[in-house]
Amino acid sequence: MTTNLSFSTAILLVIVSQSFFHNSLTCYAFSHDKTREALEIIIGGGGYASPAQPPECPPPPPPPCLPPASPAVQIKPPPPPLPPSQPPKPKYTPPSTRPSPGIEDPSGIKSMKYFATVIRGVGKKIGYDPQHITDSWTGDNPCTFKGVVCHQFMNRSAVVGVDFNGNHFNGYGGQPVDLNIFLTQDQDLMFFHANSNNFTNLPNNISKLHYLFELDLSNNQLNGSFPKDVLKSPSLTFLDLRYNKLQGAVPPEAFTIYLDVLFLNNNNFSGNLPDNFGKLRALYLTFANNFFTGGIPSSIGNCSETLVEVLFLNNSLSGCLPYEIGKLKHMTVFDTSINKFTGPIPHSFGCLKNLQLLNMSHNYFYGPVPEMVCKLGNLERLTLNNNYFTQVGPECRKLIMSNKLNVKMNCILDLHDQRTPSECATFFSQHRTCPNERSLQHIPCTIENAETTSMEDVLRPAMAPSPTYAALGIHH
Ligand SMILES: *[C@@H]1O[C@H](CO)[C@@H](O)[C@H](O)[C@H]1NC(C)=O
Ligand SMILES: *[C@@H]1O[C@H](CO)[C@@H](O)[C@H](O)[C@H]1NC(C)=O
Ligand SMILES: *[C@@H]1O[C@H](CO)[C@@H](O)[C@H](O)[C@H]1NC(C)=O
Ligand SMILES: *[C@@H]1O[C@H](CO)[C@@H](O)[C@H](O)[C@H]1NC(C)=O
Ligand SMILES: *[C@@H]1O[C@H](CO)[C@@H](O)[C@H](O)[C@H]1NC(C)=O
Ligand SMILES: *[C@@H]1O[C@H](CO)[C@@H](O)[C@H](O)[C@H]1NC(C)=O
Ligand SMILES: *[C@@H]1O[C@H](CO)[C@@H](O)[C@H](O)[C@H]1NC(C)=O
Ligand SMILES: *[C@@H]1O[C@H](CO)[C@@H](O)[C@H](O)[C@H]1NC(C)=O
Repeated sequence: MTTNLSFSTAILLVIVSQSFFHNSLTCYAFSHDKTREALEIIIGGGGYASPAQPPECPPPPPPPCLPPASPAVQIKPPPPPLPPSQPPKPKYTPPSTRPSPGIEDPSGIKSMKYFATVIRGVGKKIGYDPQHITDSWTGDNPCTFKGVVCHQFMNRSAVVGVDFNGNHFNGYGGQPVDLNIFLTQDQDLMFFHANSNNFTNLPNNISKLHYLFELDLSNNQLNGSFPKDVLKSPSLTFLDLRYNKLQGAVPPEAFTIYLDVLFLNNNNFSGNLPDNFGKLRALYLTFANNFFTGGIPSSIGNCSETLVEVLFLNNSLSGCLPYEIGKLKHMTVFDTSINKFTGPIPHSFGCLKNLQLLNMSHNYFYGPVPEMVCKLGNLERLTLNNNYFTQVGPECRKLIMSNKLNVKMNCILDLHDQRTPSECATFFSQHRTCPNERSLQHIPCTIENAETTSMEDVLRPAMAPSPTYAALGIHH
């Protein structure tokens, strides 16, 4: 048992460090805090390339090596170190008990044979395989199968990952391939990357895989409700379910597990964001292009040590923005565009000293644009068009001049390209207030803090490609 445990733990460390090494050459990876420096999360789930693959960027889409053309991405290139954050509790703890392989199966041969059987079973359901990947799926040694990634540890080989990214597998008769394969907890799988295929259903018992830390099933045919089982995976830090046909509410448990990355965009999710939103410890979040309703919970302020980018764009979210958003001191990208939000911009936004992109366009926001926001030193784009803003001061006018601020189609009297007076009059003929109106004046930082350049700012290179905006594209 003991040997067995240390075997797996050692494998984990070896693989993870190699995974990072590999990717730092070809793709970009990002690390979180010090305690988890080893656990590099590879955006793109492209992470680990099997030896059979050319040492290029991992296969297509989600999230890309070369991010797709998006405004966020085009601004400046190099990837930034993440802002140092207070180390949250590391999630990964080796399981205290772990059955075979080990006692009954010291070399792991049974488990390898079993895995080969499982993958050959998937192969039987694949009717369309344009890259002839499945041709190599013969025999009892899964390490010879294309798309199966193994790692040699001392005299034992173990399957550590599945990389079916971009294989475009489809079933017979154009039907999706059911991925309800049965995985056992004996497997040392650390990543399961299967973006851009036509899989439906998650593998069974996926939550029994103690070492699984990346699951990418984006751009597949997952349907029905949120796959709750995956939320029980003890090591999961990267969950990418975007571009599927999932619907209904996202369960509150999705906000309490310890993910670094949660991509849910381009599904049919609906319902409110749960009040426990603030339990999330993710760095990158995309809720874009779904049907979420209700407001942004004020508990979002509790994400202040971790949250870097969040996209709410194109949902049916409403209400006033809570001032607590101003506590998100590491935040660089915040996009609430195309929703039904209203109210003024909280003054607390003047504390978001790392903010680079703020997009609030196409909502019902109103009031003056706080000068403090326009003074934020790292701001590259402030997009406020198609709202009901009424005033911009001298700092904001400087940004208009430099093309960083878009305030078209608002109610600012002396500017061009504004709404008609009657549109504005109609909007303001209704009495509009926010709950906790006074909190919107509250500034949870000192102005000095907000304005001075910290060491962090000096050390940070130019603006990086935005992983969340990259996640909005499917590309082939
Ligand atoms: C090598 O494998 C054998 C079984 O095939 C096992 O008994 C032995 O302990 C292994 N040695 C090491 C160093 O892991
Ligand atoms: C899934 O299948 C449909 C039709 O059978 C096809 O048009 C689509 O491109 C497939 N998706 C992927 C990612 O291969
Ligand atoms: C694995 O999944 C199957 C079917 O979904 C279930 O019957 C079984 O109890 C599960 N096993 C474990 C160990 O959870
Ligand atoms: C998911 O899609 C399959 C066909 O691809 C269909 O048979 C099944 O009923 C769907 N499930 C749900 C929950 O919509
Ligand atoms: C998702 O929502 C759209 C728009 O309401 C609808 O047309 C589509 O059928 C839905 N898809 C699924 C899988 O529920
Ligand atoms: C917004 O989301 C809906 C539903 O997912 C989609 O049909 C529409 O194209 C999206 N709009 C934009 C501007 O992306
Ligand atoms: C989390 O947010 C809630 C609601 O805003 C607040 O009451 C609570 O004190 C916060 N907890 C922490 C640890 O900041
Ligand atoms: C802001 O959001 C709108 C709507 O989603 C989008 O069309 C526009 O490109 C965005 N602008 C920037 C600078 O991100």
